[in-house]
Formats: sequence, structure tokens, C-alpha cells
Amino acid sequence: MPSPQEILAELRKIRYPGLTRDIVSFGMIKDIEVASGGVTVILSTASVKPEAIARISNDVQQAVAAMTGVPAVKVEIEQAPTLRMTAATLQKRAIPGVRHVIAVASGKGGVGKSTVAVNLALALAAMGWRVGLMDADVYGPSVAMMVGIGEQVRVTKDRRIVPLERFGVRYVSMALFISDETAVIWRGPMVTKLESEFLFNVEWGDLDCLVIDMPPGTGDAQLTITQRVALDGGVIVTTPQEIALLDVKRGVAMFQEVNVPVLGVVENMSYHLCRKCNHRQEIFAHGGGERLAQALAVPFLGALPMVRELREGADSASPLVATRPDDPVSAIFKSMASKIIARLDASGAAKPA
Ligand SMILES: Nc1ncnc2c1ncn2[C@@H]1O[C@H](COP(=O)(O)OP(=O)(O)OP(=O)(O)O)[C@@H](O)[C@H]1O
Ligand SMILES: [Mg+2]
Repeated sequence: MPSPQEILAELRKIRYPGLTRDIVSFGMIKDIEVASGGVTVILSTASVKPEAIARISNDVQQAVAAMTGVPAVKVEIEQAPTLRMTAATLQKRAIPGVRHVIAVASGKGGVGKSTVAVNLALALAAMGWRVGLMDADVYGPSVAMMVGIGEQVRVTKDRRIVPLERFGVRYVSMALFISDETAVIWRGPMVTKLESEFLFNVEWGDLDCLVIDMPPGTGDAQLTITQRVALDGGVIVTTPQEIALLDVKRGVAMFQEVNVPVLGVVENMSYHLCRKCNHRQEIFAHGGGERLAQALAVPFLGALPMVRELREGADSASPLVATRPDDPVSAIFKSMASKIIARLDASGAAKPA
């Protein structure tokens, strides 16, 4: 009997009728159950045209039945996502009023994940989107420092959290609620569990996109968030010296495991940009991020140079994209934001605005 992963790989070959996209990246596969009696594939059809459902269901049936060692195939259509809870959808919830949720992750710490999350959120806002930013990194709440938030968060009468606003982006962090001592006690999965609950208690208002700055790494804590929050996509930040295939691969696997499309890989501190002469100095072998993205069949969003202004902006609560919108590095963030918007629009066409 093939494994769910092998079946998923087979299903990736099936195209959505009339499109070049496959049904897996379209988010149609809710779950695959492999039991002694056979395979059950559960299709989510929330964003699928009714006339396409029968065709896709038939294609899935045939593709899985053709695999060696499969005695029987059942294709179930999931009508309302809330009616059925399966491994991949276990307690996964959408955040009311929020159209898209994306998570910025990295295989390890210190690669510039928060810098990318903050500036990407600002770039999305610059494209006219209503954007929220959630700092899910309780132990290193760098986003607060980067955008300059120190004040107390307000809570409504019905105990919902009002996000703070900076540079037109709504921002919240659980770190603003817990002291250093409590954070120590809360170490571990409990924090992430509370954190994903916390997300739903924020009065976000209407947002086109919520960006989550994930804790570094791809362990259980990160998986908890990806399992509980209905994510529309993941962004993986890496640095050239870290282009150890394994770290990015883990990031990609983390999102794919829960059926979240990878929006792309960002290579940060990719080269050094001299501000005086605009000379671009390659410090590490160039192009690793792009090659790696290609090898893993995920998009490459772009390479960011190492520039002092990016760090200074982060340290002094004046993020580059907001304070120097015309800087060439801000332009790189905006180009990444456009790619993300295009992909989210394509995948979430059926989502209400
Ligand atoms: N492209 C860049 N050029 C210059 N400095 C950068 C760049 N990207 C990040 N930095 C600096 O590197 C440091 C680490 O970045 P950041 O805090 O964004 O990383 P992180 O991956 O979020 O780290 P952590 O794992 O601690 O959350 C910060 O001081 C930041 O200002
Ligand atoms: Mg960080």
C-alpha cells in the first residue's frame, strides 16, 4: 500500500480542469487515509466550480486506483469544511474578517525572518492591502522593537484585543502581555497553543492579509501554529551560507505537511550593496536560493542585499519600506509583495473580499 505522501505526489499530476495548476497546490486535498481496506481521499471543494468536481473526483479515483497495492479507492467530497475534522484540518480555523493569512518561517534563527516579515507587511500595505502583523516569536519579540511599540495593548469590553497600529499596519504580539518571568514558565508547546488561540481573540477588523512572524525553526511549536490556523501560504527565509538544502527543505516540508502552499523562498543577506557606488559585492556563492527553490519546486521570491540601513531601520523603529519607500531595497520587498499578492489572488479567487 502506498503512503499518503506517495499518493499526494501522484495527485499532484492532476490538473484543475482548464488550468495549469494541479489540484494539490489548489488546496483541494483535505486528507488522505490509508487503511487495510483501501485508500480514502477527501476533497475540499469550497473554491471549486460545481461542474469541475465530478471530473476531478473521477481523475483522483483513477489515479489512485492505478497505483500498485491499492485494493479500493473512495473519494469523499467535503462540503462544509467545519463538518469534518481530519488530520490535516484538525482544529484549523480561519480568522474572521481576515482574507489571507501567511506565515514567515525559517529553518534556523537569526536569518532575518523578522526583518523580512516587517518589511514585507509594509510592502503589502504599500500595494494598497489592509495588513496585520502578528509576532509569534514570544522569546524574541523583535517586531515590537522594529516598528516601535512599547505601550499597553487595549482590550475591549468583551475582552478582545485591539491591535496597535504603526505605519498603517495593525500589529499584535502575545509578548506584550507576558513578562519575562512568565515567558520562562510558559516555555514550550503551551505558549504556541495559547498563541494560536490568542490570534483568534484579536479584533483585527477587515484585513486583506495577516502576516505571522513565526518562531525560528521548524519544530513542534511551529507545527502547532500551522495546524491550528488556516494558512494561505508560507514564506521561507534563508541566508546563502545556510543554503544547506536541509533547512529550507524542512521549511517546505512543514508547510506541505499541512497542505499549505509555499509562496516562496527569500534569500536574505545575499550580497553586499555599497551605497556609495551601488557596487554589488557577492560574498557567498550566488544563486543558491534560486537553485534550491527550483530543486524543491517552490517559487523564488528574490534576494535581499546586506545593507546597513536595513539593520539601522530595524533597530530604530523606522523600518526601511516605511521610511525610505523609494530605496532600491524597498523596491525588492515590493516586488516580493506583488508576487505574493498574485499567488494569493490566484489561489483564493473564491474567497470573499
Ligand atoms: N539584509 C540585511 N542587512 C543588514 N542587516 C540585516 C539584514 N537582515 C537582517 N539584518 C539584521 O540581522 C539581525 C537579525 O535579523 P532578524 O531579527 O530579522 O532575524 P530573525 O531571523 O528574525 O532572528 P530570530 O531568529 O532571533 O527571530 C538584526 O539585527 C537585523 O537588523
Ligand atoms: Mg525574529
